[in-house]
Amino acid sequence: MEKSDKSDFKYIGNKLLSWYEKNARDLPFRQTKDPYKIWICEIVFQQTRINQGLNHYNNFIERFPDVKTLSEADENDVLLYWKGLGYYSRAINVHKAAQQIINDYHGIFPNKYEEILKLKGVGKYTAAAVSSICFNERIPAVDGNFYRVLSRIFADGFDISNSKAFNYFSELAHLILPENVGDFNQAMMDLGSEICKPKNPLCGECPLNQDCIAFLTNTISQFPIKTKKAKSVGLELKYYFVHRNGEFLIQQRKDDFIWKKLYEFPPKISEELIPFIKSVKTVNHKLTHKNLSIEIYNVEVDSEDAWKHFIAENNFIISDYESSHQKSFPKPLENYLGNYHMAYRIL
Ligand code: ADE
Repeated sequence: MEKSDKSDFKYIGNKLLSWYEKNARDLPFRQTKDPYKIWICEIVFQQTRINQGLNHYNNFIERFPDVKTLSEADENDVLLYWKGLGYYSRAINVHKAAQQIINDYHGIFPNKYEEILKLKGVGKYTAAAVSSICFNERIPAVDGNFYRVLSRIFADGFDISNSKAFNYFSELAHLILPENVGDFNQAMMDLGSEICKPKNPLCGECPLNQDCIAFLTNTISQFPIKTKKAKSVGLELKYYFVHRNGEFLIQQRKDDFIWKKLYEFPPKISEELIPFIKSVKTVNHKLTHKNLSIEIYNVEVDSEDAWKHFIAENNFIISDYESSHQKSFPKPLENYLGNYHMAYRIL
């Protein structure tokens, strides 16, 4: 369909709003218009399903109830409260953004889309969600849900992997945008995750099924169109789990290629420790666009001298299983520590 044909589709947005009024999910961040809480919820739930992230969100808000508390917190404490959510750079960014709000905005959350967009880690989707929900700005919060719902409603074959997709679907969203944009954006999120799902959508329950060209022409499975798949690269990592009498060595990551600021095992050992390698385990782990293959060497140091030399020559932190809970590790290393603890307890 040509854009010129899509002249007045506001009734679609209004229909969606009526559905939302009756069916909105009861979520804690829907009882508030506090931009701090809405911002945190948008960051937490960007890559995490509501069910998986809700407890984390509640705990995070309880520990850091406002911008000031978050800005004054220790970064490692923020990382700790992010534990389990993954994508830890989001935690580092919200911490920095809170400091930005204190320093650049006198501690008052900015109330304009353009200003919110300047906050560290905030992209167009988040800025649109916060500014529409909290400050009634007329900006659709376009994400994958919007691509999918709109491409189906209009049976629109615009390729969602095209770099112009964001602008294209933003324009399309404006065609159906009702007065209450904050609720409309949240209605699209609910519709996209509960009904207009990527696979097996529940078209029978959809409030827009009589307005959806793909449904009416039985072509739902053809939309959205996506021609390019983001490629994953393979990466190999090595770690040495150097331990003695229940203690092991860790360090905080410095490079920010992946797992920024998380804790890890030594990536190298000295020749003196090589004889203590007892076994090796290979773990595969997927990150967004990266397939990791991680070799973890079990180095059980039976010599006190060698243990002391290695510690003296390096800046590693000596940890044990209990105190490791106070730090955030990448998921595969956290799993390794769990296994180690089980094996160690049995011995
Ligand atoms: N996912 C991200 N933000 C959301 C919101 N405000 N409502 C529902 N799902 C969401």
